[in-house]
Order: sequence, then C-alpha cells, then structure tokens
Amino acid sequence: MIIAPLVGKQVDSYRLADARINVFDGSVRSSKTITTLVKWIEFVRTAPAGPLLMVGKTERTLRRNIIDVLVEMLGDKRARYVAGTGELFLLGRKIYVVGANDETAQEKIRGLSLVGAYCDELSTLPESFFVMLLTRLSIPGARLYATTNPDGPQHWLKVNYLDRARLHLDRDGEVHRSDDPDSLNLHRFSFQLADNPNLTPEYVANVSSEFTGLWYRRLILGEWVLAEGVVYESWDPARHVVAELPPIAHWLCIALDYGTTNPFHALAIGLGVDGRLYVGHEWRWDSKKQRGSLTDAEYSERVRAWVTGLGITPSYWVVDPSAKSYRVQMHRDGTTSTLADNEVVDGIRDVASLFATGRLLVHAVCKELIREIPGYAWDPDASEKGEDKPLKVNDHGVDALRYGIRTTRNIWHGRLAPPTKAA
Ligand SMILES: Nc1ncnc2c1ncn2[C@@H]1O[C@H](COP(=O)(O)OP(=O)(O)OP(=O)(O)O)[C@@H](O)[C@H]1O
Ligand SMILES: [Mg+2]
Repeated sequence: MIIAPLVGKQVDSYRLADARINVFDGSVRSSKTITTLVKWIEFVRTAPAGPLLMVGKTERTLRRNIIDVLVEMLGDKRARYVAGTGELFLLGRKIYVVGANDETAQEKIRGLSLVGAYCDELSTLPESFFVMLLTRLSIPGARLYATTNPDGPQHWLKVNYLDRARLHLDRDGEVHRSDDPDSLNLHRFSFQLADNPNLTPEYVANVSSEFTGLWYRRLILGEWVLAEGVVYESWDPARHVVAELPPIAHWLCIALDYGTTNPFHALAIGLGVDGRLYVGHEWRWDSKKQRGSLTDAEYSERVRAWVTGLGITPSYWVVDPSAKSYRVQMHRDGTTSTLADNEVVDGIRDVASLFATGRLLVHAVCKELIREIPGYAWDPDASEKGEDKPLKVNDHGVDALRYGIRTTRNIWHGRLAPPTKAA
C-alpha cells in the first residue's frame, strides 16, 4: 500500500498528537486509522524502552483492521505478526496484541508496565479495560493512541474522557484548548469524510447512501448522538414490502428466534436474481395465542415440515444462541445449526443499511414481521446510560431478521445490486 503524504487535518493532528492520551474520533473511512498508524510507527521507533501493546475488540478484528494494514504499509520484514503467540514485531520491537471484548479482558494486562498502547475501535472496548490500561501506562513518556467511531452522547468514552480533552481539533479544523483543572492530558481529533482526500467523490456518495438516521449522523457526520425512537427509520411498507417474490438465486438461511412462553419466529431469507435480499416466508408459533406450547421435538418437526413444504434448501440454519436445547434437538433430527451472531447493534446496523439502500425486501406473506418492524424502538433508559439497546418487546421476527442477515453477511456482502434511493 502506497501511503500518500498526509495533508490538511491529517498533518495537523499528527503534529498535535503528543499528549499522554490521543483519541481520533469521527466518520467511517475518514483516515483515522492511517493517520494514527503513521503516528504510531513514529512513536514505536522513538519511544523509550519498554513494552508496547495493541488492542482491538478481538484479536481477529485487530488483525484485519490494523495489523494487515501495517504489514502492507511496511512490508513483512519490518512488520511481522506471529499469530501463535499473539505478538507483532514492528521495526524490531515486540508488541503484545490482545482482544478486549468483555469485562474479563482487563486480566490480560494486569501487572504490565507499558510505554505505549494503540486501541482500535475504542468505544467498543469495556470501560474497565480502558481504566486498567491507563494505570498500566506507567513508564515516563508513555502514550496511548486510539481511534473510534462515535456512539451515544452518554457513552463512557465521551463523558469521562473526550469531553475532558485538554485540546480538541474539531470537525471544522478549529483547535480548542481547555484550562479547566478537571481536563485530562488528552488530545482529541475529530475527523469527517472530507478530511480524507484519498476517496473518490463517487465512493463518498456510495458510503453516505448506505446509512440513514442515527447511523448517518454518527458514521457519516461523526456526531455522538442518542439512539432514540424507531430503530428502522427508513422502513416504508410501500418501498419494502413486495406482493410477489422474484426468483430466488440462493436461499441463504432459515433464521430462528426461539421462544416457549414468548413466540417462536422463523424466517426464510434468500438472495433474489435481482441482487436484493428477500425475507420470503415466515413461520411463527405464539403459545399465548395458539393452542399451547410446543416441545423442542415438536418445534423441530413442524419447522422442518414448513421448510420442506416451501420446497427450499437453505445453506444455513441460523439459530438464536440462547436456544441450546433446541439446537440439540435439531442435531438429533439431522439438521446442523449455526450459532447466530448476536452482536445486536452490528446486526441492526446491517439491516438498517440494507433497508436504506433498498436491498432488503419483505414478502407480504410475512405479516408478523411486517407488524413488528415499525414498532421496534430504542430503549430510552439504556440510551441515558450510554448504551444502545432496543426495547425487548415484540422483537421476535426482528431478532430473527438480524440474526439471519448478520450471520450470512459473508455470503451476500459484495453480491448485491447497487443501492437505490427512497422515492
Ligand atoms: N495517506 C493515505 N494514503 C493512501 N490512502 C489513504 C490515506 N489515508 C487514507 N487512505 C485510504 O482511505 C481509507 C480509509 O482510511 P482509514 O481506514 O484510515 O479510515 P478510518 O477513519 O479509520 O475509517 P473507519 O472508521 O471505517 O475505520 C483507507 O483504506 C485508505 O484506502
Ligand atoms: Mg479505522
């Protein structure tokens, strides 16, 4: 990868990123990663002796987002990753690589004395880990570099850290300094798409069209805004509900949200020959409305009978991770299931983006799903605490939908028709 010389805000932030904590926040694709990596390479080259650490949500995402980029930038002699030991050798210095996706992650760094740390997607790490990390940066001259996309305005990173920055280079490129005694030795750099001159106007138009509402404001405009109101803002039955299914090129999955006292909801999701995703059929059992509850064996039998009746062969059976007993039953009945990816906000973002771009449609026979979507809303109490969570009511079809879409992402990603706009 040829790195073009840094320009504009990239250079300004590079020069000003000499605080103990340096956080780059803002839009997707706005060059936060490239700019911080150029800075990190310089730091690693010149930093005092001592251990260094690089952190991502998981080791795998860190590798894909960051380490592969470093290897491309420097070549595999100057940047060499040893997967077995989780160590990166960068310009001859050893760097520990860790994933920090849960509250137990802080145990991995307890007891270390570090001189430098790099965090990818900082807002997705637990606050407990970050607090521990700051105590570990104990060698004089120690620094931290981090990138993040915006989250809610009450998020721990925003309230406890970014709002207390000693220096802020804002989205418009203006520098604000704070002499508030409560401010931290933290410099904040807020990026937007326009700060990355390496993107073509076409590319910018495309990514911008993939997001609406909340996601547009956060991921394109770079604002820390509250998740409030309905989750799927672009949902419009006139646009998203089809009376007839086109020919389906590939039935990706049956996606299941399991319930015994709550409804059990299954969806058949396929990729149409027109390059759009379709929820073609649904099957639902509501023990409160129907004739009592079913056992796992009965569910398994009826769902299989439904799928056989549809005459489809799905590639995957994507099942609610909490449905352990049901998965065992399916296995007994000869069906291999796939554990659904239950990263709630990631799944919602995928579905929202597909609705916004007109690439996910619902067949009119899926009446219960169509009834749930417009009522699916963010939980205001969770938002106040800095967490994005949908309300857990009437969410059975919509849960199955995000499981199915998120878990089959590798199949449909890159195979869809170009985005279409709302009328
Ligand atoms: N100096 C540069 N030279 C060449 N390409 C660049 C440069 N800066 C950015 N780019 C290009 O822009 C893309 C986006 O930049 P980068 O990955 O740094 O954005 P980001 O702000 O970290 O985005 P995200 O929030 O999606 O992680 C890169 O993949 C790269 O192709
Ligand atoms: Mg990045």
